[in-house]
Amino acid sequence: MKKAYVHGYDHRENIRLQDQASTLVELLHSDTKYPAGSRVLEAGCGVGAQTITLAKNSPGALITSIDISETSLVEARRKTAEAGLTNVYFEQADIFNLPYVEDSFDHIFVCFVLEHLSRPVEALNTLKDYLKEGGTITVIEGDHGSAYFYPKSEDAHKAIQCLVELQRRACGNAMIGRELYPLLNQAGFKSVRVSPRMVYVDSSKPQLVDGFTKKTFTAMIEGVRESAIKSGIIEQSVFDQGIQDLYRTAEADGVFCYTFFKAIGNK
Ligand SMILES: C[S@@+](CC[C@H](N)C(=O)[O-])C[C@H]1O[C@@H](n2cnc3c(N)ncnc32)[C@H](O)[C@@H]1O
Repeated sequence: MKKAYVHGYDHRENIRLQDQASTLVELLHSDTKYPAGSRVLEAGCGVGAQTITLAKNSPGALITSIDISETSLVEARRKTAEAGLTNVYFEQADIFNLPYVEDSFDHIFVCFVLEHLSRPVEALNTLKDYLKEGGTITVIEGDHGSAYFYPKSEDAHKAIQCLVELQRRACGNAMIGRELYPLLNQAGFKSVRVSPRMVYVDSSKPQLVDGFTKKTFTAMIEGVRESAIKSGIIEQSVFDQGIQDLYRTAEADGVFCYTFFKAIGNK
């Protein structure tokens, strides 16, 4: 599973995930608060970019955050300790082989993980086994097909498509956001509800221009430059022009839109 993953574990990717998390906290987390005493499993916590918010927003909940990458967990532990949070327990574990008793969590939270998995329904199904009857799962994913912007640029769309294609070759799905409703239903969750969370950025919102358009989205596409060119799916000049055009949308008259999808289902 781990190898089917386009984004690296490198320092730059960690910073990008952190920028993304702080920019999107309100949009993605404002309606996620778990009651005191509840046991929450965060599956695929990475470097802890969402963990901090989860733990802060639900100070009485007991959060178990797992990831397959020990390197990421080291960083997640460090950040959580630095934030003075004591309600998170980190453990290295594979979603497909969890070391817990079934029916033991009240809630499960999964963010930006399914897009990297070749078997997302199986992952959801497995997670469901660890959820108590009536418990909830919350899943957040992006969808790179939802990016549109001004000024328009074919090259920018081609550069974005490189990430989609590379993720597909790594058995992931960069356009999984739109599929959350069918995926959760296929995995047997009940009362599935999905809410699109649109990020709209123009220059009247300088924090989003910097934190989202530049440091989150464009940085993510830029991150696949070498693999895209090396794999021959795009010419270097087209890719570089596409990136330049994405940065162009961050200028005074530019506009950038992207939609995340947040799904909640019950066991
Ligand atoms: C893009 S990161 C997202 C991290 C975090 N949820 C966030 O939103 O910042 C995806 C994470 O899923 C983890 N992952 C992938 N496959 C996994 C598996 N089978 N079991 C546990 N974690 C996995 C990766 O190691 C990576 O840290």
